[in-house]
Amino acid sequence: MPVITLVNEGKTLEVVERANLRKALLKNGISPYVGKDKFLNCLGNGLCGTCRVEVVDGKGAAPISPLEEASLLGLVPLYARQVPKNVRLACRIDVTKDMSIKTYPVITIDWKLTKERLTLATIWTIFGGTFLFVTARLLYEIATGR
Ligand code: FES
Repeated sequence: MPVITLVNEGKTLEVVERANLRKALLKNGISPYVGKDKFLNCLGNGLCGTCRVEVVDGKGAAPISPLEEASLLGLVPLYARQVPKNVRLACRIDVTKDMSIKTYPVITIDWKLTKERLTLATIWTIFGGTFLFVTARLLYEIATGR
């Protein structure tokens, strides 16, 4: 049975093979969430990016998938997180071999990417809104004959 070493807590957990890391942590009273994320998360569906753990020794974890990477960076198109390469989502890891993890890794906002996203959102709002208004006005004029 694979063993998960929790570096910060100084504990080890023995889990069945292919056990979900998030579920194993929660089952043993260790929350992968910080603060309000304990209540505001996607319940292990890989969408919110809040169940982050730092994989110190990751032989027991499959490679990261594109969806996991996107969730880690932030699916909300208005901001982006700066995430170290060894940070993963606990809910996306099925433990197949021994591994060591650190809970509560430090994540920062990627201000450069956030600025780009905000700029794009602003452009889409201004021009998309104008396009919709002009199209609606045109359709109204055609429909009413004015
Ligand atoms: S619980 Fe939401 S991404 Fe893991």
